[in-house]
Amino acid sequence: MASVELSLTVRDLVHADLASCGWAGSARHLAGMAVQLDRARRGDVDYLAVCASADIPVAKGGVDYRVKGGVGTLWQLAVHPALQSCGIGTVLIEAAEQRIVSRGLRQAELDVEDSNPRARALYERLGYVAYDRRPDAWDEQAPDGTLRRHETMCTVMRKELS
Ligand SMILES: CC(C)(COP(=O)(O)OP(=O)(O)OC[C@H]1O[C@@H](n2cnc3c(N)ncnc32)[C@H](O)[C@@H]1OP(=O)(O)O)[C@@H](O)C(=O)NCCC(=O)NCCS
Repeated sequence: MASVELSLTVRDLVHADLASCGWAGSARHLAGMAVQLDRARRGDVDYLAVCASADIPVAKGGVDYRVKGGVGTLWQLAVHPALQSCGIGTVLIEAAEQRIVSRGLRQAELDVEDSNPRARALYERLGYVAYDRRPDAWDEQAPDGTLRRHETMCTVMRKELS
């Protein structure tokens, strides 16, 4: 087995990155990301890109400051499928937490689906503690373009940032 070292930078995601984010989801998801970049311009959210040396995003995720007062809510976290389990998600989450702290806030929260125990284990390892559960639902776009309602149960987790 060969291994390589990657130098990663974390920066704000920009509209021009969306063309390189096809790995992150459907056309509908990418259109939703574009809407979130408009919210980022207004300061309502941070939307981050983790890039390798070519400055192309290999991971992305946001912090929404409007879900709950005084709290940064992490959401839409995703690492390129070919690069998961290498520590990039950890880099992304730590950078998101730094953004929250830099706004003078001390609380991070996120939702994780019950069907995603690996993500939950990662969040627990990073210090997130479950404190509530809630149902959630959204429309998902299949590769043929059709929409399907996805209904799920989530655990709500939080972390006090120092
Ligand atoms: C969830 C997600 C964002 C986590 O990102 P990631 O880059 O895979 O996370 P990390 O690599 O930092 O940590 C996850 C795993 O890698 C391992 N790991 C961390 N650093 C590592 C390193 N340097 N070398 C090898 N393994 C490492 C961790 O122990 C952990 O173990 P696991 O594979 O048993 O889960 C990513 O897997 C993803 O995009 N999943 C699909 C979408 C999704 O589920 N999003 C979250 C919705 S709440």
